[in-house]
Amino acid sequence: MAGDDSLEIQEDAIRAFLVELMPIEHAPAHVRLAFHDAGTYDVHSRTGGAHGAVHLKEEIQRADNTGWGQACMELLALAKEQFPTVSWADLVAIGGAAAIEKTGGPAIRVGLGRTDADEPSPPHRLPGGYEGATMLKRMFARMGLGVRDLVALSGAHTLGFTQRKPFTHDPWVFSNSYYTQLVELKGSALLGTDTALIDDPELRPYVELYARDQDQFMADFADAYYRLTWLGNEQVIR
Ligand code: HEM
Repeated sequence: MAGDDSLEIQEDAIRAFLVELMPIEHAPAHVRLAFHDAGTYDVHSRTGGAHGAVHLKEEIQRADNTGWGQACMELLALAKEQFPTVSWADLVAIGGAAAIEKTGGPAIRVGLGRTDADEPSPPHRLPGGYEGATMLKRMFARMGLGVRDLVALSGAHTLGFTQRKPFTHDPWVFSNSYYTQLVELKGSALLGTDTALIDDPELRPYVELYARDQDQFMADFADAYYRLTWLGNEQVIR
């Protein structure tokens, strides 16, 4: 329910629990996991989505979720013991928010009330890093997200690694350095999909906006992350 104080207090307690116990080196994987849970959503068939299916063995073991995914689920399982009535889907979403906070980003309230799936999401719905801008836009539209969301959420690549190389020069700090690097084209390990953002005339203005205005990036990221984490749930509670 909107503005329900007791739910907000509970959510804040869960996020604080996770921020406290989360090893910072697992923080990027928590953000990625939240994307990989919700980003399976298909707005047309209304399948996939933020239903906590990444906690199921079959889904967490997919190639998409290699790396620290299993360790992330172990921490979320501790939270589940402490807060047993909260769904896995909520815990995955709050895990990503806790990771953003742990790395110096905003404290994002994502709300409680997502429903859990008991079956894995349909496979092969997440981007792999080789798509061009047109395909990325199509994939995000399939999820029910827009082009501004695509650019804002891609800023999560300010954190973490690909092929063991950091995306940015400060992979443990949530900042707009992903965009400043893209604009300067000095990325240490940016993906083809990252540079696609700067090459596309519709996406580039957002990259430039976030490169010069970190507050706008934080605000847009928080808004898009919130909507991402509700994909596939009937009721969006804010
Ligand atoms: C736009 C399309 C996207 C593509 C093609 C993509 C692809 C990838 C790839 C290939 C990696 C590296 C995996 C590895 O080498 O182990 C990665 C890492 C990561 N992705 Fe994305 N991603 C996308 C969007 C997102 C979004 C929307 C988020 C979150 C909101 C996200 C969060 C992350 C994070 C935090 C990492 C680092 C993980 C770590 O270091 O453990 N990505 N992504």
